[in-house]
Amino acid sequence: MSIEIRRAREEDRERILAISSQIWDGYDYVPNVLDEWMTCRSGELLVAVLDGTLAAFSYRTWVAPGHAWLQGIRTDSALRGRGAGRMLTEASLERSWRDGARRVGLSTYIDNQASMHIVEAFGFHRVASFVYLEGDLAARAEPAPVAETLTEDEAIRFVAQSEFLAAANGRYPSGWKFLEFGWAPEAAIAWSPYRIGIRRRGRVESALCASRRSAGADCATPRPDELDVGVLSFLDGDEEDFPALLRKASTDLGTTSWEAMVPKSGDRGARALGALRDLGLRSWSEFEEDVFAYELDRPGAGSPSERREP
Ligand SMILES: CC(C)(COP(=O)(O)OP(=O)(O)OC[C@H]1O[C@@H](n2cnc3c(N)ncnc32)[C@H](O)[C@@H]1OP(=O)(O)O)[C@@H](O)C(=O)NCCC(=O)NCCS
Repeated sequence: MSIEIRRAREEDRERILAISSQIWDGYDYVPNVLDEWMTCRSGELLVAVLDGTLAAFSYRTWVAPGHAWLQGIRTDSALRGRGAGRMLTEASLERSWRDGARRVGLSTYIDNQASMHIVEAFGFHRVASFVYLEGDLAARAEPAPVAETLTEDEAIRFVAQSEFLAAANGRYPSGWKFLEFGWAPEAAIAWSPYRIGIRRRGRVESALCASRRSAGADCATPRPDELDVGVLSFLDGDEEDFPALLRKASTDLGTTSWEAMVPKSGDRGARALGALRDLGLRSWSEFEEDVFAYELDRPGAGSPSERREP
């Protein structure tokens, strides 16, 4: 058996879409992002060709300077277990180190046992766990405290000291991507350009950071009724402020439909978890952790403080 790993070409498109159509009952997000993945100069779409047949693909991109990100690995269901996933992962790692990565990250859902098996064999460590939530917020009519826009500096300071971030072992979420906040706070906070908070006596007491995803964004295939979804990256502070913050965010972003990654590890969960459940968001797994962030640091890359960009 021969295996060739190479960059995807235009003529691979049909096979890539055929493989993608086997995943998640046709709800894979890859068709939405394939154009971007084929043309994006900073990212790289790799394919594995087994005995002349395109058997698998995966995408590699960056979440911050020096921090590569792997996603979207899929093998044709008829050709699994022949080493294509492993070879793609190995090639992605080698190419990441070659291109200057000091860390490579990825995330996976609890069901993806094969994926976890492969990345753990390459030395990836599980660094944080989250509960994925989605759904429509229940409408409520309580009087709203006044939420105001936060500056980037205010948001960074609040997030950095939050229990939410501590429960996430310092990893900041946006959709299915995660970045250690201390690695690049500006890059992490830029994922959620919508930032509001509630100040009392001049101090920020609660904050929400979010963005809006729309069709074609890096996400699962949106159904027509979920073309505009709020992506909640961060919610912490006084729990009583959460409904008002979410209500304002829904109004400003023009959606009541939300998805969120809320940190949880064993008994330790962010306080947003209970609040979002009470407000009507659903979990795929009984509100237990079901999404895991993995990282691998380049061997010999030094301590985190030495690894910072100059
Ligand atoms: C994950 C995936 C890409 C692996 O592709 P693959 O080409 O079959 O991978 P390989 O043949 O290189 O390796 C598979 C490894 O997983 C192991 N494996 C398979 N199913 C497993 C399971 N349920 N639990 C634990 N390990 C499992 C195999 O034993 C093999 O390990 P080994 O080489 O030590 O024996 C493939 O399963 C897939 O496309 N899954 C659906 C999409 C998906 O979930 N992608 C990941 C999103 S994060």
